[in-house]
Amino acid sequence: MSAEGALANRHIVLGLSGGVACYKAADFARELVKAGATVQVVMTEAACQFITPVTMQALSNRPVYTSQWDAREANHMPHINLTRGASAVVVAPASADFIAKLAQGRADDLLSLLCLARPLAGDRGVPLLVAPAMNREMWAHPATQRNVAQIRADGTTVLGPAAGDQACGEIGDGRMLEAEELRDELIAFFQPKALAGRDVLVTAGPTFEAIDPVRGITNHSSGKMGFAIARAAAEAGARVTLVAGPVHLATPRGVRRIDVQSAEQMLAAVLPEARRHEIFVATAAVADWRPASVATQKIKKDAPSQGAGQSAGHVPALSFVENPDILATVAKLPTGERPFCVGFAAESHDIVRHARAKLVRKGVPLIVANNGPATFGRDHNALVLVDAAGERALPPSDKLTLARLLVAEIAQRCPRRASTPATATAASA
Ligand code: CTP
Repeated sequence: MSAEGALANRHIVLGLSGGVACYKAADFARELVKAGATVQVVMTEAACQFITPVTMQALSNRPVYTSQWDAREANHMPHINLTRGASAVVVAPASADFIAKLAQGRADDLLSLLCLARPLAGDRGVPLLVAPAMNREMWAHPATQRNVAQIRADGTTVLGPAAGDQACGEIGDGRMLEAEELRDELIAFFQPKALAGRDVLVTAGPTFEAIDPVRGITNHSSGKMGFAIARAAAEAGARVTLVAGPVHLATPRGVRRIDVQSAEQMLAAVLPEARRHEIFVATAAVADWRPASVATQKIKKDAPSQGAGQSAGHVPALSFVENPDILATVAKLPTGERPFCVGFAAESHDIVRHARAKLVRKGVPLIVANNGPATFGRDHNALVLVDAAGERALPPSDKLTLARLLVAEIAQRCPRRASTPATATAASA
């Protein structure tokens, strides 16, 4: 999903400490600029061994700072001036040594000095985010883990690290996140935390109803709206479970994903989850019907009698049965087990009238109506919120922007449960 403009009006101080992951910081600076941020790069002496300030200046369009003795600042105080008015300081890569400095409050170079000298509290507070990058043994070392716990306790946000192949040839935890992942983490960091600590369940995509082992019935849903809602809910601080039909989309960061094919599988995945989630958003385009029977072998043109249903000559005639209505089933769970349910209505005509009928038929407090054929597979959408009180259109926009608006709306409408079954069990354990 495009990040264009997502960091407009943000000023990021990007710090680089020494590590081979400095090569990724070049890409990260580019991603920040492309997302609309202004970027001021500050590099430690060790970082300059891995990548040159010339590269970072070219990518950020600003001279790079490397020393606290830089004479360009009139008051000779770059460690103060650079963070005043900044939206955040992001240190990527953050070496084990640099994290140790932060943990101890040491300030013997410009980057550590400006981290210590940045305003911590109030409107002028400048948050600090670090993206560790180091060998897996260094990351696992008790000293590093102690330091990481300390900087977290001091209010620093730690991004990653990821597991995988390392430059040293070993495999394990300690890789710096990729540039686009860091960009998305930063975008998420700036979103309001309207669903902090809450559990959100989302269905997305089409379902696939098998006819035989090689054929089936599906629809044009791309899953983009549901995936955008899952991402927006995670950005808003929720723990998100995404039950996805067959789609070609990457799982949003931090989201737990369960893949299914058919409507029956989707119901089987959703039901046990629904009871421990406070909010259920059903965006999936669930097939209304499935073939009454699934042929165990491929139906052959020259052997019509082995097909599903009756056959007329060489053309198999399919018969259908109705699929369970997942949203209506969840909406009928007893109070205390029932999440706040939000349905979608993908219509081709009389959008609001059909959406209102679904609100009543499915017994849910909110239906989000849209024009299915106009939005399937596209990045933009137009939504109308329909509830018992009336209807309200959200401004047409890209799906992620709409998803964020919808998440804010749901957070306002959905009262916090006194205790969910999951938290109640944890509390009594
Ligand atoms: N839905 C569901 N299970 C189904 C059918 C629909 O959970 N078997 C949910 C969808 O995820 C959506 C809402 O119900 O949130 C409305 O889906 P839609 O396909 O628009 O409506 P239908 O109930 O299928 O009615 P129709 O096809 O006649 O418009």
